Amino acid sequence: MLETKRLILRPFLRSDAADVLEYLGKPAVHCFADMKLCSLAEAEREMERRGEQGEYYFAIVLKESGKVIGEIAAYPEERQGDTFSPCWMLNGMYQGKGYAYEAARVFFGYLFERKGARRIYAYAEEDNLPSRRLCERLGMRKEGEFKEFVSFVKNSDGTPLYENTIQYAVLKREWSGDAFIEKRSL
Ligand SMILES: CC(C)(COP(=O)(O)OP(=O)(O)OC[C@H]1O[C@@H](n2cnc3c(N)ncnc32)[C@H](O)[C@@H]1OP(=O)(O)O)[C@@H](O)C(=O)NCCC(=O)NCCS
Repeated sequence: MLETKRLILRPFLRSDAADVLEYLGKPAVHCFADMKLCSLAEAEREMERRGEQGEYYFAIVLKESGKVIGEIAAYPEERQGDTFSPCWMLNGMYQGKGYAYEAARVFFGYLFERKGARRIYAYAEEDNLPSRRLCERLGMRKEGEFKEFVSFVKNSDGTPLYENTIQYAVLKREWSGDAFIEKRSL
């Protein structure tokens, strides 16, 4: 359980299904197309699966209302256990208020201080400016630009739609995680 001024980050619960369906009923970006949820029953099954990964997969919860407004997750890489690549997403109604930054800062602190992270890197599609700005606000360095790097969806003629990807990263020795506060229970 992690806490910031306005947010709690905690493992998912079955009862979060309706809040998550609100934003994953129609994923906002191509890279999350395969995370689409089609019904409340499907969302409940997904919450149970996520609940079992509570060490690395967090619901972003508004303190004042208890509403789940998004999610953040990252796992140690199989071949390099000190390297993590986060995935972040907010309900569109709650973007542009600094919540993703607040959640990511405390999550990065958790990975660096508690989970043995040495390097955290993120991919953002070239045209995903909110995600790129978030990386930069977090102090991540731009490491590279990959042209036609990946395809998540198809063009109308059935051919893969390739996207340009930007890579950002921050090392533990570059990180200043003064916002890191952990609460063991609410
Ligand atoms: C990527 C994503 C999480 C970023 O969310 P966000 O709300 O824009 O990010 P932040 O929390 O950093 O908020 C920053 C904005 O809030 C504004 N803001 C308002 N009140 C604020 C406050 N109290 N504190 C900080 N920022 C505040 C900032 O000025 C900034 O606006 P700007 O981007 O126009 O400069 C969000 O766009 C999203 O969920 N996108 C869909 C999923 C996605 O693309 N995931 C990443 C795939 S690579």
